[in-house]
Amino acid sequence: MRIIGTKITIRELTFKDSKDFYEFGRDPSIGPMAGWKPFPNYDVACRLLSSLILNKETYAITEINSNKLIGTISIYNYGIRKYKRVKSLGFSLGAPYHNKGYMTEAVNLVCDYIFNKTDCELLEVGCHTDNFASKRVIEKCGFKYDGMLEKYKALYDGRVVDAYFYSMTKEEHERKKLI
Ligand SMILES: CC(C)(COP(=O)(O)OP(=O)(O)OC[C@H]1O[C@@H](n2cnc3c(N)ncnc32)[C@H](O)[C@@H]1OP(=O)(O)O)[C@@H](O)C(=O)NCCC(=O)NCCS
Repeated sequence: MRIIGTKITIRELTFKDSKDFYEFGRDPSIGPMAGWKPFPNYDVACRLLSSLILNKETYAITEINSNKLIGTISIYNYGIRKYKRVKSLGFSLGAPYHNKGYMTEAVNLVCDYIFNKTDCELLEVGCHTDNFASKRVIEKCGFKYDGMLEKYKALYDGRVVDAYFYSMTKEEHERKKLI
């Protein structure tokens, strides 16, 4: 998969991304907001990158005129809803690239891809209740608020977080494009 936007490109991960992936994931301001532990060293980052390449659910985000990985976006085959034709989104971006509209563009591009090129009928996404930037991205992309799940998840550091959940159906996505 390769999707070219106006600000960013979404492409498959490769082993050549390992240094950029480590730089991005070691930052303690990124992982914990998304529920994962910052990478403690380069080897851990390389092992995780290998498993992500094998799983084929996670893609690299790069700036439009660069091949450097600056973030990731994942399309998971599991989520809160347990039936077929539902996919779940996850995303994270390196701190130097925040608040430039990059992730809003990435999520919109992935929504178009999922509803136009796969048989997915519903896309869901969630964020911790204190993740205001993520909440804003999700709302800007037109997802509908489904509700809050208290004590959603115990994180690697023992914190138990509440989460907001959102969804978009194929029909809602098509209607959004008409507005
Ligand atoms: C969430 C994240 C992906 C957003 O990426 P981004 O490219 O900066 O997002 P965008 O620039 O497209 O949009 C960010 C929006 O959030 C707003 N925002 C940022 N910080 C905010 C805050 N603390 N409170 C309220 N709004 C905030 C911005 O103003 C912007 O909204 P606007 O366009 O209306 O001004 C990025 O912050 C990130 O990777 N965070 C750490 C990991 C993470 O949280 N991943 C998501 C897990 S669900």
